[in-house]
Amino acid sequence: MITVFGSLNVDLVSRVVAIPKPGETVHGSDLQLIPGGKGANQALAARRAGAKVKMIGVIGDDSVAGVALQELEPAGVDLSAVRRRHGTTGVAIITVDQKGENTIVVSPGANAEARASQIAAGALNKGDTLLLQMEVPLAETLAAAKAGKAAGATVVLSLAPFSPLSAEQLAPVSTLIVNEHEAADFAGALGLKAGDAEATVKGLADKLGLTVIATLGPEGAIAAGKAGVVRVSAIPVKPVDTTGAGDTFAGVLSAWLDQGADLATAMKFAAIAGSLACTREGAQPSFPRRAEIEAAAR
Ligand code: RIB
Repeated sequence: MITVFGSLNVDLVSRVVAIPKPGETVHGSDLQLIPGGKGANQALAARRAGAKVKMIGVIGDDSVAGVALQELEPAGVDLSAVRRRHGTTGVAIITVDQKGENTIVVSPGANAEARASQIAAGALNKGDTLLLQMEVPLAETLAAAKAGKAAGATVVLSLAPFSPLSAEQLAPVSTLIVNEHEAADFAGALGLKAGDAEATVKGLADKLGLTVIATLGPEGAIAAGKAGVVRVSAIPVKPVDTTGAGDTFAGVLSAWLDQGADLATAMKFAAIAGSLACTREGAQPSFPRRAEIEAAAR
């Protein structure tokens, strides 16, 4: 069973030829409202990969709130602990260019009211997975991590949006997921020598005492930790929209780990799923289902 404590957003997406420079105005496509948010995205990706998933977070009561649950509900994610507050839902303002690259500005809205206390006593148990990100208040994420560890759950943290946490803050976390740029920034912040991706994840894993996975875009992903160094490939795709690819990786990785897979196997399927998510528009609508991920692995 996977519990995701984190954000639910509505993504306001406009497609552009090229991402505008500061001070520039450009024409975009018609606006699309698409369900997103790193927490909700990872919950859906894990669910589509076959895991039992409970989502914990907060949405508003504004006119877009329903969009945030549009994909989670039919997928069968347990939403009984998603609270509704009076006010705005979290929103992300996204531009996507012709190469599929994006810029994202997150306006937290109701996510600012997410509380670790929404995780009911006894809800996390030994053998469960608690999946966290960085889009709800940090103190609540850290409190949830502590509660998860104390209950015997495996705590996975996707460190996005990036912030260089201390070893003490990360003590309850067993697996940390960053992208290659975040890995380099984190290593720099910890005073580690600059190196290639392998040296960087090794340095981080040693310094922080946990498993560190860096996603490498089209190059796949690399990890260092108790299982040694693990490297997996992505599959070659023509990217249409990379929004949510990292969340797909985190959700699918957690789904396979939660079902007892070893790190290398979980990373292999997560990297394939992340590639597939880049081939379709939007965050949640682009996430692959288990059968598609397994077929692409053959
Ligand atoms: O990681 C992609 C997500 O980041 C988007 O869905 C957006 O909501 C922001 O949270």
